[in-house]
Parts: sequence; C-alpha cells; structure tokens
Amino acid sequence: MKNRVLIFQIGLALALGVSARAGLIWENTEADLHPTLSDKAVVAHFKYKNTGDKPITITHAHSSCGCTVAAPPKDPIAPGRSGEIVATFTIGDRVGEQTKTVEVRTDEPDSAPTVLKLKATIPRLLEYKPPLLYWRDWEKRMPKTIDVTIGDSPITNLDVTSADPSIKIETVAIPKEKAFRITVTPPSENRQINATLKIQPDFPKEAPKTFYANVRVDIAGGANGPIGFGPRALWAPSSGMQSASAQANDQAKAVAVLHPTKGSSVEGVVTFAKSGNDIKVVADVTGLTPGKHGFHIHEFGDCSSPDGMSAGGHFNPTNDPHGSHDAAERHVGDLGNLEADSSGKAHLELTDTMMTMSGEESIIGRSVIVHEKEDDLKSQPVGNAGGRAACGVIAIAKP
Ligand code: CU
Ligand code: ZN
Repeated sequence: MKNRVLIFQIGLALALGVSARAGLIWENTEADLHPTLSDKAVVAHFKYKNTGDKPITITHAHSSCGCTVAAPPKDPIAPGRSGEIVATFTIGDRVGEQTKTVEVRTDEPDSAPTVLKLKATIPRLLEYKPPLLYWRDWEKRMPKTIDVTIGDSPITNLDVTSADPSIKIETVAIPKEKAFRITVTPPSENRQINATLKIQPDFPKEAPKTFYANVRVDIAGGANGPIGFGPRALWAPSSGMQSASAQANDQAKAVAVLHPTKGSSVEGVVTFAKSGNDIKVVADVTGLTPGKHGFHIHEFGDCSSPDGMSAGGHFNPTNDPHGSHDAAERHVGDLGNLEADSSGKAHLELTDTMMTMSGEESIIGRSVIVHEKEDDLKSQPVGNAGGRAACGVIAIAKP
C-alpha cells in the first residue's frame, strides 16, 4: 500500500515536472558510463528537443565539479529542433561509483532547472593495504609490508620509489594471487622519518597513474609532526580487505568519547544518530583555545599514539579532495570546524548526508579528531589544521 502511494506521488511529480517545462524536453537526463581502466575521460550525450513554438536558449550549464565540462549550444534552439549537450567527465584519480551533475537553465519563463546526471562506474586499477607504514618510537625497525592486489588489471610490474634513499624497498610479484608485496625497511639510525612512497604500475602506459603510501618512523622525544599524506594517499579499505568494524549492521547510534592527546586538555563527547537517510552529529567539547578547530573523522579507530597520529588521515572512502562539510566534493570525514567560546567550550550540531553507520564505508570503528588549529576547508589534503588535540574511537552506542 505504502508503495502504491509512493508510485502515485512519483507519477504526479513527473506529470507536473513535464508540464512545467513544456518547451525543451529531454530524451535522457541520466547517463550510465562504464570507462575502461585506460580511459582518461568519459563522454555523455544528453538529447533534447524543443517541443514548444518559441525558440529556447540554454543560458546556463553549471557542473557540480571542475572535473566535468558541458558544452551547450550557443544559439537559440528553434521550435521543433533537436540537439544534444555533450558533457565530458575527466576521471583523474577517482574510482568506484561517481555521480557528477550538470544543472541546465533556459530562458523559458518559469522553467525549473534540469539536472543532468553522469553516473560513472570507474574500475580500480589496484588496491593496496595499508596506506601507512608506521613505526612507533619504541618499535624495532623490522620490515613491514604493503599488499597490493591488481585483480584483472594487466599490470606486470610495479615501480616503487621513495624520495628518501635510506628506506629499503623490495617489490615482489605474486602472479598466482594477482598481487604484489612491497617490503619496506626503515634505516636503523635514530632519525624521524616522514616519507612518501610512489607506487607506479606499468599499465596503462598511455595514462600513467601513481599511488601513494606513507612511511613514518617516530623517535623518542622527537617533534613528530603530521603525516605528509600524498594527494591521493588514502584509500578506503575495500571488500575482502575489510576490518571487523565495518561488519556491524545498521547501527542507529554511535558515540565517540574524545580524550586529550599528550600535552592537551581537550576532551568531549560526539554522538551520531540515524535520522532517516541522514546522520545527526552532536559534539560537546571542552578545554579548547577560543576560536575554530578542525573537526574530522579519521580513517583508523586507533588513538593509541600520544599525538593521535595513529588515527591516520581523513576518512575518505570516495577518494575525493578535502573540503568543507557542505562542499559537493569532500572527504566523508570532513566535518568542518568546531568553534570554541571564550571559556574553551564548543557545541556543534550538524546533519550529514554522506556518512553511513553500516556496510563497508561505515564510520564505526574509525575515529574523531579535534585539531589544534582551524581547518581552512581548502588546503590539500587536510585543511592545514595542525596537530591533533583530542582523539576518540567511534563505537556502537545503545540505540
Ligand atoms: Cu583531522
Ligand atoms: Zn579532509
């Protein structure tokens, strides 16, 4: 019964929508795109027809992302004429399901804008885990490994390099498992290391891609600054390479209790509650310096290191750039800033449409970080928000 009402409502909405823009009719407003591993861009065609009796000019074709370019006709579309808008989506480093939109407006009076959707399913060239190799100050400098799986990608060789030549890197192919293993050994000398590894597959040759991993070695009493994550360093753990945390089913509520990092007195509680398809986030934090503080979900639910760096980088399963909470493209973990009053207290409530508490990309088992400084909402990859003042693991709460 409920379904029938819904279908009726959709039907009604469609009927109204069509009559509201009787002039320009679109044959399709969605394009399903399936680029191959070697494609740099995909092209979508959206066909229209002017069914009215007056010429119509497309005045505006605005893309949701700088990665998408739409070419509308410059001249008015005569009555009875058909044509198409060609939109090109440059893939870049994006992977998985991506939806980009183009909003089209015309000079028809009272017409609603039409939203054209490009839905691309971009294959993954390879996956690797973990994106960060981390030696704590007390840990022996034993070799650690990054496992790379290539699936059906025709990769035959991986070139793995580091700008720091003292890091020993060994790459071995395991053809039987369609995988490579990268073994990394830091130098034995007592030196802080914060290096980026470049992983370059030999396919596709005409559109070379680089993946980034990070090597970090802390020393006792060292100035252990933020991790220098490469622009695309963070990859979501994906199916089959998943932590136990994401197996939790459809949670209604989660909570993160924030504890101060070493030398900080910032603490607080952040709650996450499902509300329809959205998640409501409420944060109460104390002990801050007055003003703004970056507030994010980070990839790992590990607050064990004194500086909070063990929590990894921003949680970014969609492999998008860092941004503000209301940006069309952002890390799922980008929640913007907390703002503390003169007494150092901050209260924040926001509604989020991107995060989920179930499935592979669940926030449960990850962490919340409050930063020492303000997130400028634009610097890549982490908004230049400085050190980590508090850390808390996101855990299942009583519903
Ligand atoms: Cu952060
Ligand atoms: Zn971010």
